[in-house]
Amino acid sequence: MDKINFNHLILNRRSIRRYTAQELSADDVKLVLEAGLLAPTSQNSHPWHFIVIDDKEMLQRMSEVRTMGAGPVARCAVAIVVAADTTLSDVWVEDCSIAASYMQLQAAALGLGSCWIQIRGRFGADNIPAEEQLMDMLGIPEHVNIECIITLGYKDEERKPLDPSKTLWEKVHIDRW
Ligand SMILES: Cc1cc2nc3c(=O)[nH]c(=O)nc-3n(C[C@H](O)[C@H](O)[C@H](O)COP(=O)(O)O)c2cc1C
Repeated sequence: MDKINFNHLILNRRSIRRYTAQELSADDVKLVLEAGLLAPTSQNSHPWHFIVIDDKEMLQRMSEVRTMGAGPVARCAVAIVVAADTTLSDVWVEDCSIAASYMQLQAAALGLGSCWIQIRGRFGADNIPAEEQLMDMLGIPEHVNIECIITLGYKDEERKPLDPSKTLWEKVHIDRW
């Protein structure tokens, strides 16, 4: 493999929460999904499922499953719900997290904006779990749990790249804590 500047991608990936009205190309969406499908999983179990939504009305409803923090879902062009068949893996949370991160990095590499919207362990109005509401809306079966939503869209906000001088090197412990 030729050397690629992965560090550049890492520094330039930021959470983007505002998107233009421009639609995404099917090729770009496919590449993002492919990144998730090629992510490593424990015991090669591939427990995840990715539900792709671009219907504006549905995106609006999905953004309301949490009282705050899910606003980008209403504004994005495409949302990918990252879920997993929990009968296939006891570490589905890790598997979903890696796939979601891969998809965010692929989105960044394509110049798209994306944001992770947490669903697992989050609640909406009347303390109803966000997951429960999405399961109903999207017809997700009982043996499947939802981890997060990854929003995608062309950026409508500028975020500065991460500053390497602020890297938290104090979190690294050499030889022992
Ligand atoms: C596990 C996880 C959960 C997150 N949940 C949300 C969320 O619900 N809503 C949101 O707007 N951003 C969410 N984010 C994005 C973080 O706020 C963001 O990654 C962090 O502030 C660092 O900013 P950056 O991604 O631009 O570097 C989440 C990120 C992670 C990794």
